[in-house]
Amino acid sequence: MAPDKEELIRLLSDEENQDALFQKADEVRRRNVGNEVHLRGLIEFSNICRNNCLYCGIRRDNADVCRYRMSEDKLAETARQAVALGFKTIVLQSGEDMYYTAARMCRIIEAIKKLDVAVTLSLGERTYAEYKAFRLAGADRYLMRIETTDKELYHRLDPGMSWQHRYECLLAIKELGYELGSGIMVGLPGQSLASIAGDLLFLRDLQIDMAGIGPFIPHPKTPLAKEKGGTLNLALRTMAAMRLLLPDINIPATTAMESLHPDGRIKALCAGANVIMPNVTGGEYRKFYELYPGKAGADETPLYAYSAVGKKILALGRTIGTGYGSHRRTTAG
Ligand code: 5AD
Repeated sequence: MAPDKEELIRLLSDEENQDALFQKADEVRRRNVGNEVHLRGLIEFSNICRNNCLYCGIRRDNADVCRYRMSEDKLAETARQAVALGFKTIVLQSGEDMYYTAARMCRIIEAIKKLDVAVTLSLGERTYAEYKAFRLAGADRYLMRIETTDKELYHRLDPGMSWQHRYECLLAIKELGYELGSGIMVGLPGQSLASIAGDLLFLRDLQIDMAGIGPFIPHPKTPLAKEKGGTLNLALRTMAAMRLLLPDINIPATTAMESLHPDGRIKALCAGANVIMPNVTGGEYRKFYELYPGKAGADETPLYAYSAVGKKILALGRTIGTGYGSHRRTTAG
């Protein structure tokens, strides 16, 4: 039986018995999505952002960031290298950088689709017409976290943005036939366990295809520098509970988890996760895409990212996904 709100709050608060929750989530994962771990090559192609989210290291007002934009050629070349390594999905992520107009993005998407891979976009809020154009150009999936469903907290942390608008963007993306990924941060200042439980039910009701859940990690050059941040264990319990609510979706072991513990992603793979998104951005850029400090993999090469992660997956008795790794709905619980 899927947990209700009260049960979710209990699961989120029960640190003592979390191993039982992780085991259960691991079993639900195995039965519904199997032992394959899907790898997605993540390209962080621009760290320029029009938004000013209080938690984020690449927020507009952080003048200490060295800003960059990758050219279309550079992007295509980075994608080609990732595909040569074996990635079957390329994720294009950036700040909300309007230099990448619909026409420009469509050219990039079309070029990468020629490589016979799934293309996932993570560009933030755009217009319906833009989402539609990207989809027609061949984009398969879109990732955009709702971050929190506590609207007051959202509006405090994301000044100038509208929770309702973000929600409408998610609905538009879904309607356009993308596979929809969303998610939250846990451990935000003022966020309660009841609020996180509400987030999980929101994501269930939205019928997302992928859920990215990570701990909030305070960045020293942001207004939240002095806040506490989320713990790995709470993030893992939240992720495991998500697996119980949506048994057959894709759930990544997130980079933020790895940033709090050298084996954070391995722990996640044993608590419900079935996806890893290694960073394949070129070394000259990746240190500047600092959403939070200590971001795991900042000095890895794409080859190392693929082979080191691959080895760890095999050591767990799991296999590396050989297909696109799209969400497939099952009926099993
Ligand atoms: N700590 C953890 N995660 C963060 N993100 C942004 N800033 C931080 C931070 N300080 C997450 C947000 C965003 C995703 C790309 O990165 O959830 O959606």
